[in-house]
Amino acid sequence: ALGGFPDFMRKEIAEQGEAVRRALRGRLDDRFATAHLGGLNMDARELRSISKVVFLGCGSAYYAGQLGAQLIEELARIPATAEPASEFRYRNPVVDPDALYVAISQSGETLDTLAAVQELQRKGGRVIGAVNAVGSAIARQCGAGVFLHAGPEISVASTKALTNMTVSFTMLGLLLGRVRDLSAADGHRIVDGLRALPGAIDQVLTDEDAISEIAHRYAKARSMFFIGRVRAWPVAREGAQKLKEVSYVHAEAYQASELKHGPLALIDQEMPSVVIVPDDELLAKNLSTIEQIKARGGPVIAVTNADLPADAADEVIRVPRVAPELDPMLLTIPLQLLAYHTAIALGRDVDKPRNLAKSVTVE
Ligand code: BG6
Repeated sequence: ALGGFPDFMRKEIAEQGEAVRRALRGRLDDRFATAHLGGLNMDARELRSISKVVFLGCGSAYYAGQLGAQLIEELARIPATAEPASEFRYRNPVVDPDALYVAISQSGETLDTLAAVQELQRKGGRVIGAVNAVGSAIARQCGAGVFLHAGPEISVASTKALTNMTVSFTMLGLLLGRVRDLSAADGHRIVDGLRALPGAIDQVLTDEDAISEIAHRYAKARSMFFIGRVRAWPVAREGAQKLKEVSYVHAEAYQASELKHGPLALIDQEMPSVVIVPDDELLAKNLSTIEQIKARGGPVIAVTNADLPADAADEVIRVPRVAPELDPMLLTIPLQLLAYHTAIALGRDVDKPRNLAKSVTVE
C-alpha cells in the first residue's frame, strides 16, 4: 500500500500533484473562463444571490477554510469568513438565509462539523459540503457540495486533502466571481494557474533534500514561530499545526503585523521563525518583518516565491509562482516537508501521532 514510501504521510505529500489533477478533471471551462461544479445544484441566479460565504471545519480543514475565505473575497468580492466548526453550535450563531455555508471535512465524519451542519439546517441555513469521503455522514447530510477527489488519505496529518480543499475553493471563487465582477482575463489567469499547479507542486518536492537538512538543523528547537500576513496567514497557521501534530515541537502562528504587539518579546537565538514571503504587494512589509526578527537575534527560515537574495534569511526555501491568488497552496508544501522531516529527525511515528485520531467522531 505504501508503494515504496516509508509512510503514508510522505506518500500522500507526493501524491498531491495527481490529487489536484483529479480535482480539476472536467471542471475547468476554458471557453467561459469559469468552473463547473455540478454537485452544488445551484443555477446562476442562485449563485448571484449569495450575500456571504462562511467556511466551517476543524483543524487543517479550518485553515483551508481561511484560505477559501481569502480566495472568495479576492475572486468574487463576496464577504467571506471561516470559523472552527467545533465552536459553532456552542455560541448560538446568527444564521443568515442569504449566506452560503461550506462544511469542510476530509473524512466527512467529524462530529463537530456534522453538528454544525445540523445546527445550520435547523435554523434555515444553506449549507454545502466540501468533503473527500463519498457517502460519508457530512456529505449525505449536506446533500450538495464539492467532492475533493484527493483519494484515500490515511496519515492523520492531512496533506493532499487540504490541498484539494483549497483547489476546490478556488474553483468556487472562480464560479462565483464569473457570475459577478471577475473579468474573463482574470478568469483565464486563474484557470491557467490551476492547471499549472500540479507541475509546480512536483517542482517543490524536488527540493526535499534541502528542506530535510533545514528540518534536521532546527529539530532541537523547543518552539517555533510561523509568521505570515493576509494570504500567507492561513499558510502560517497550517505550518504551525503540522509541526505540532507530527513532531510535537511547540509552534505558534502569528500575523506578521501583530509580532510587535507582544510576541516579539519571545524572539532570541533559541526561537526560530518560519516567515512566509509571497511575491505580492506586501513583499516589502514581509522583508521588514524578517529584519525585525533578525535584529533580535532570531533565526529566520524564509519560504518564498519572490527573488530574495540567499542572505535575506538564515535559510531560504523557494517555490515557483503560478498566480498570486494560488501561491498560498504552493507555499504550504515546504511546510509539510519541514514538519515531516522534523518528526523523522525526532523519531516520531508520523502517521499516527500520539493522542490524535484521523477523524474525531466524539464530542
Ligand atoms: C482532526 C485531525 O482531529 O480532524 C486533523 O487530527 C483534521 O488532522 C481534523 O484536520 C478534521 O478532520 P476532517 O476529516 O473533518 O477533515
